[in-house]
Amino acid sequence: MSEGINRLVVIGLGLIGSSLAKAARDRGLCQEVIGCSRSPETLVKAMKAGVVDRVVGSIEAVAGELGDGDLVVIGVPTLTVPVIIRQLQPLLSQSVTITDVASVKGSVVTALKEVYGEIPSQFVPGHPIAGSEKSGVDAVNPKLFDDHRVILTPLPETGGDHLQRVKDLWSGAGAVVSEMSVSEHDEVLAATSHLPHMLAYSLVDTLSNMRENREIFRYAAGGFRDFTRIAASDPVMWHDIVMANDQAVLSVLEDLTEHLGLIKQAITSGDSDYLLGVFTRAREARNHFSKMLENKAYLEPMIKTIDYRVAPGGSVSGQIRIPGDKSISHRSIMLGSIAQGVTEVTGFLEGEDSLATLQAFRDMGVVIEGPTDGRVVVHGVGLKGLKAPSGPLYLGNSGTSMRLLSGLLAAQSFDVELTGDESLSKRPMARVADPLRQMGAVIETEEGGRPPLRIKGGQSLNGIDYELPMASAQVKSCVLLAGLYADGTTRTTEPAPTRDHTERMLTGFGYQINRKGALAELNGGGELTAMAIDVPADISSATFYMVAAAIAPGSDVLLPHVGINPTRIGAINILQMMGADIQLSNQAEVGGEPVADIRVRYAPLHGIQIPEDQVPLAIDEFPALFVAAACAEGQTILTGAEELRVKESDRIQAMADGLKILGVDATPTVDGIIINGGAISGGEVDSVDDHRIAMSFAVAALRAKDDILIKNCNNVVTSFPGFVALANKAGLKIVEEVR
Ligand code: S3P
Repeated sequence: MSEGINRLVVIGLGLIGSSLAKAARDRGLCQEVIGCSRSPETLVKAMKAGVVDRVVGSIEAVAGELGDGDLVVIGVPTLTVPVIIRQLQPLLSQSVTITDVASVKGSVVTALKEVYGEIPSQFVPGHPIAGSEKSGVDAVNPKLFDDHRVILTPLPETGGDHLQRVKDLWSGAGAVVSEMSVSEHDEVLAATSHLPHMLAYSLVDTLSNMRENREIFRYAAGGFRDFTRIAASDPVMWHDIVMANDQAVLSVLEDLTEHLGLIKQAITSGDSDYLLGVFTRAREARNHFSKMLENKAYLEPMIKTIDYRVAPGGSVSGQIRIPGDKSISHRSIMLGSIAQGVTEVTGFLEGEDSLATLQAFRDMGVVIEGPTDGRVVVHGVGLKGLKAPSGPLYLGNSGTSMRLLSGLLAAQSFDVELTGDESLSKRPMARVADPLRQMGAVIETEEGGRPPLRIKGGQSLNGIDYELPMASAQVKSCVLLAGLYADGTTRTTEPAPTRDHTERMLTGFGYQINRKGALAELNGGGELTAMAIDVPADISSATFYMVAAAIAPGSDVLLPHVGINPTRIGAINILQMMGADIQLSNQAEVGGEPVADIRVRYAPLHGIQIPEDQVPLAIDEFPALFVAAACAEGQTILTGAEELRVKESDRIQAMADGLKILGVDATPTVDGIIINGGAISGGEVDSVDDHRIAMSFAVAALRAKDDILIKNCNNVVTSFPGFVALANKAGLKIVEEVR
């Protein structure tokens, strides 16, 4: 912490300067606020409006009084900042903190170097991302910065105390302060602020210059008004900004011009897929952006942490429609993209993981409409039709996306890099890189076989006969997808049955794949033909409600249209062995996948030794099953499940830690866990950013004695968007707490 602010001098009482001065005065952020402007009229207005404690007509009048603890804010337009810096240099002692509010930082730093010969430690360049089309002291608004971002671009020379003082001022004024480098700031703002203003000015100017079109403004509808709102902003200010940030602005302008050229070309040549591609991609990006900024534009810090506070007790009941299957959703996009023709998907899971796959294929030029209420239309480009993405493919939290894509992309003509979030970046990828290399792929990983994966394009692959060292559907699928591009036959043999959605869907797309027991085999070079895919509800997500009903007396839930592929029903089998009352009805087959309605009613559970052959069939369901074990009479023992340690988190450790906090006797072992059923207390547990850990502890609250606070639940949206609303409707009592 700095020692606080003594006097605050604001030079320039425009909208930003006067609003900051008033915010500081109203909220008691300093001892005295002094306003400085060359315009006597502005000074009178500022006094009248209670913006400042006193005013001066020039900085000379007050400079001599200032020292340690005082802060001068240069609140003048961008191109005038250097003039003020020149003025201040001989007047202010080095102990006075100085900051500015200009929208461009490179030009301010250049001026500092010119005037001082070096960067003075007292200067903290800053930029509040706030404003409006209104300007001047008349528009003063002390709430202008509430929850808005202020970017500071401190330099290595900047003094820590000075930086802290400026941070204190802005956070005191209600803003969210972040730091960036000067060049990053100028590039980001050129793209997100300076370019849009130029475009708005340019569009209005172009249209108003069309003489024959003078009248068109009369007919201008909402689109025009929305797009050009910012053309009503202060022209001098925006002139200054564009001139001061010329290089960064020119660079994005060039990108945009090229992009517009391509749109023009597409219109000329009637390339409707290209146009639809641009529009669907842009709409998605824009929607994502609005979600990020939900409620208040530009406001709030973009990354907030969500915790769940779950009240104890209760039961679950009613019909609960579970979102679509994650594994099948991923595969529908992947196979739809490399098929010939248009694949229509319904019931698609609109969770972050499957959306990451969808975005990756858009980045590789595939036109994908939606998702709208679970409907996605994939305009397939054929096996060889993918295009090089313009940057790394970011796959968020999704291991399935990374592992399956590595196979599908191992033989493309272009290089590609696959990256992910912190959790994904720690997960083992050698298990896919190794067999792909045996097929002839060139893939680099980070140390220890971790992501990012860098795949070299232009390689030709040969089919292999691969015996999987572990039971993994992702590895099997990866090898089979690479096999589509390989010469000859690719064969996989798995040590235990794992989910077979890839094999079933390939058959659905008309691709010949032979299967016999543990063996799957295909020849490269065929063709996939588009199909319609109805994605069933995800049995992994349904498990949270199955366990909820199984452990909470009085519960009775019906989960319609859930996928019950035999390679996925370990959770049903295990719960039934423990005594759960589970009934299946309405069994049918949709698009090659079996589905059923699942009804679960409360019945007392007892502990069991979980048969190892059930482990791959319930691999994602163990966190929830551990909660069932905690509520069961007696001991439950799991072995042969070391794979759980390399999922989105080490699920054995994470669950054991949380259960112990909740008073349950849980002992982790190398490849499993031993749980003695008993009472569940309340307490604070950590989901370690793992969606399934978060949801499992939420379910545990049904049998807890007190509140369970579950930390770090943001990732629930990777697999189960809308979990909290649905859970509360069923009978849980979850409140989201945002930090
Ligand atoms: C998945 C396979 C499983 C599973 C994952 C989804 C898939 O992973 O845990 O959530 O869609 O193929 P492993 O193949 O690593 O067991």
